[in-house]
Amino acid sequence: MFKGVLFDLDGVITDTAEYHYRAWKKLGEEIGITIDRTFNEQLKGVSREDSLSRMLAYGHKENEFSEEEFSAMAARKNEYYVEMIQEITPEDVYPGILTLLKELKSHNVKISLASASKNGPFLLNKMAIEPYFDAIADPASVAKGKPAPDIFLLAASKVGVEIKDCIGVEDAKAGIQAIQASGALPIGVGRKEDLGTDISLVSETSQLSFDYLVEQWMQANH
Ligand code: G6P
Ligand code: MG
Repeated sequence: MFKGVLFDLDGVITDTAEYHYRAWKKLGEEIGITIDRTFNEQLKGVSREDSLSRMLAYGHKENEFSEEEFSAMAARKNEYYVEMIQEITPEDVYPGILTLLKELKSHNVKISLASASKNGPFLLNKMAIEPYFDAIADPASVAKGKPAPDIFLLAASKVGVEIKDCIGVEDAKAGIQAIQASGALPIGVGRKEDLGTDISLVSETSQLSFDYLVEQWMQANH
């Protein structure tokens, strides 16, 4: 049986993936790059700096800015985002997530956060679910962001569970790739068009019950 669950945050625990999108869109408009939701799939799960690089490349503006300007733009996007998340409350936790956290706790399964976001601890606190987490992997301390496995490996090691005994939950393609590269079992939240057909997928977080996780684990590990 699995011994740990490694959670992505944005788009899995709450709807902040939408705010990341709006903040990037706003920054994009200021610098003459129009992004849409299709392109945004490529930003999901990706670090702040890598997201900005991808957006500049998408707008053919990758050579137009100095390092200082690049940092200033990344900081500006974060300001927009941070402003948007100030009003987040426990009611913003996605359906089914709180029940799942409680079920995992009662079965002594370790819970660890594997988000690329430096705003993760702030958000867990706002939603009052920080006490359920046995560990938070700090994205600033890993060498490579998703799709590299680093943050999931760190999240597992911080709770003392072998990665092969973990499930990872993700809403982003880069995140699913990171879980697959790590050796944990991926469960996706989203559409097969975005996340692929080779993994277990739910369309809504309300489907993420403890029993569902057990079922997927049994099927994958026979
Ligand atoms: C998550 C989100 C990304 C975001 C990244 C960094 O992975 O899915 O959209 O760019 O975290 O977040 P941050 O809050 O540190 O800018
Ligand atoms: Mg996400």
